[in-house]
Formats: sequence, structure tokens, C-alpha cells
Amino acid sequence: MKLAFLLLSALLAVNAGLVEKRGAAKSGKLFVCYYGSWAVYRPGDGKFDVEHIDPNLCTHLVFGFAGLGDDNRIKVLDPWNELVDEWGSGKAAFRRFNALKNINPSLKTILAVGGWNEGSVKYSQMAADPAKRATFVASCVQLLKEHGFDGLDMDWEYPANRGGTPEDKANFVQLLRDLKAAFAPQGLLLTAAVSAGKGTIDTAYDVPGMAQALDIISVMVYDMHGAWETFTHHNAPLYAHPNDQSGETKYFNANFSMNYWISLGAPRSKLVMGMPIYGRGFTLSNPAQNGFYADAPQAGIQGPYTREPGILGFNEVTSFAYKQHDLPLVL
Ligand SMILES: *[C@@H]1O[C@H](CO)[C@@H](O)[C@H](O)[C@H]1NC(C)=O
Repeated sequence: MKLAFLLLSALLAVNAGLVEKRGAAKSGKLFVCYYGSWAVYRPGDGKFDVEHIDPNLCTHLVFGFAGLGDDNRIKVLDPWNELVDEWGSGKAAFRRFNALKNINPSLKTILAVGGWNEGSVKYSQMAADPAKRATFVASCVQLLKEHGFDGLDMDWEYPANRGGTPEDKANFVQLLRDLKAAFAPQGLLLTAAVSAGKGTIDTAYDVPGMAQALDIISVMVYDMHGAWETFTHHNAPLYAHPNDQSGETKYFNANFSMNYWISLGAPRSKLVMGMPIYGRGFTLSNPAQNGFYADAPQAGIQGPYTREPGILGFNEVTSFAYKQHDLPLVL
């Protein structure tokens, strides 16, 4: 979620593997899927609205994102899309999202607050002040109940980082405790999306404290490499590459991060391993020099729907691959 870019839309748009995923939902395992509401603004076939979500694919659906207002209340970031006003204008995406539970009654819906674009400073200031925390917590309960969400996903990126203070580590746990205390009587879930980077984890998180308050901990084991670097590497490596030796690169893989969260005291039953359903691309300086750690000074071309250099949604990767081989595209 480094770029606030959890592209669930692509996952949900693709039918391949659907049977397997339905099996996962029935297995008793957590299957948490994020929907990035801005996908509704993508052009042409890229447009992905709430009704494009298969409500039977996941155990938990997370709507991204809400923000934090200057008044310390949770804030709806795109009221036109997400709400409906007193004159009936607006697209009511919150209501339609929660109506997916009419199709799958065991589905849980969660509203995510934060994300990369929200930054850290506002959250740091709110979490440091008991009165501001109380305002935030009460506003969350109110908003969730009003729209029929089953819980909140805290996506503060990240405590004690990006302009935050060292005290954020303790204040974050206090914020989660306050939220949990208000949520429990209402039966609301409290979850969090958390960093996979060792340096961030060490400064941001009191893991045992967090684990007590949280129902689910989703580790963002993606965005580990990308066009902000000048060499090719995987977006979300499962294991370390033999050449991952310098600095923190040996920590930039899912195996390290998930084991690290466990070693710090996160219960396995609450841990969810994030998977990006998008790729990150590069422009090679020499096409003959490819593979891992090839010189790649620039981002890859942007896709027709996601329109961001260095990123391709799964829907774009597949259509690109099919075009290369002149095959009919079946999604
Ligand atoms: C996975 O991580 C564990 C714990 O850090 C480590 O002991 C193990 O060697 C890693 N496995 C691979 C295949 O890298």
C-alpha cells in the first residue's frame, strides 16, 4: 500500500482461480481483500465499481480509503462517490458495498482509514492526545454503524515514520485500545494494515500490544522493489534472492517479514500475508541485460487503465501478454 495501490480490482475482475478462492473462503482461513474505490474512475474496461466485486470470493472486504479530518474525525474522502446527499445525489458506494452482504451473508465489510497518501503526521498528532483520540473513536463508531460496516482497518503509514514521532509507537497501541474498547460492545472488528519493512517495524510497532487489540493484522509484503530503484527486482519476493546482500535488501521478502512478525509476538491466527495483484515494471537500459538486478534507470510504461508509470494491474498484464501472442483475451 506504499502507493495506496492495493489493486484488488484486478483480482476480482479475473475469473481464473475463482474456485480455489471460494475454497479458501470456506476453509476457515482469513481471506481479506482490498477494494480501491478510485478504480471506478478508470477508463473503458478498466472501470471497476462496487458491483464488479464477487461477494463470494473473500471472507473480508476492505473499502479503501477514508481519511482523517482537521477536526480529528474520520473523513469521507470522496463524498460524491461514497455517499448520497439529502437531495438524493451521489453514488452511495458505501451503501452498495455493504449491500454485497445481501448476496453473501457471511461476508464482513471493513472501512480502511489512512493509506500512503494520507501520510503520518495527522495521525501522530491525533494519537498523542486523549481528547483527540476520543473524538476519532466516536466518529468511527458513528460512521461504521451509519453505513453498515462491520469494522475498521487502521492503515496509518506509519507510526514514528514519515514525520511522526518516537512516541507514536506507544500512542498507536493506546489508539488501538481505545478503538477496541468502543468497538467490542458494538461487535465491530478492528484490523490493521502494517509495514513489512524491518526498519519500519522496529520503530513503529509494539507488536504484542497491537496483537491484543487487533482481530486481524495484514502485513503489506509487497512494494518491496519498484521503479524508485534503478535496477530490476520483484515487487513481492517470496524468498530472498541470492544477490540480496547489501543493506536491508535481505529483509525485503515475504518469508522474512512474516517470520519477523511472528517472532515479535504476532499470533499466526491473526496474521494475513498480503499479495499484490499488480506488477511493477521497469525500462531496461539494455534489453539484453535483463533478469534480477539488471540496470533499469526508468519506470516501465504505464497501463491504459491504471495510468501510472512503473505499475501494471493484473488486468493490464494479462491483456498485454495476450496481445503479444495475438490470443483472444478472456477475463
Ligand atoms: C525463511 O525465513 C526463515 C526465518 O527468517 C529462515 O530461517 C529461512 O531460512 C527462510 N527460508 C528461505 C528459503 O529463505
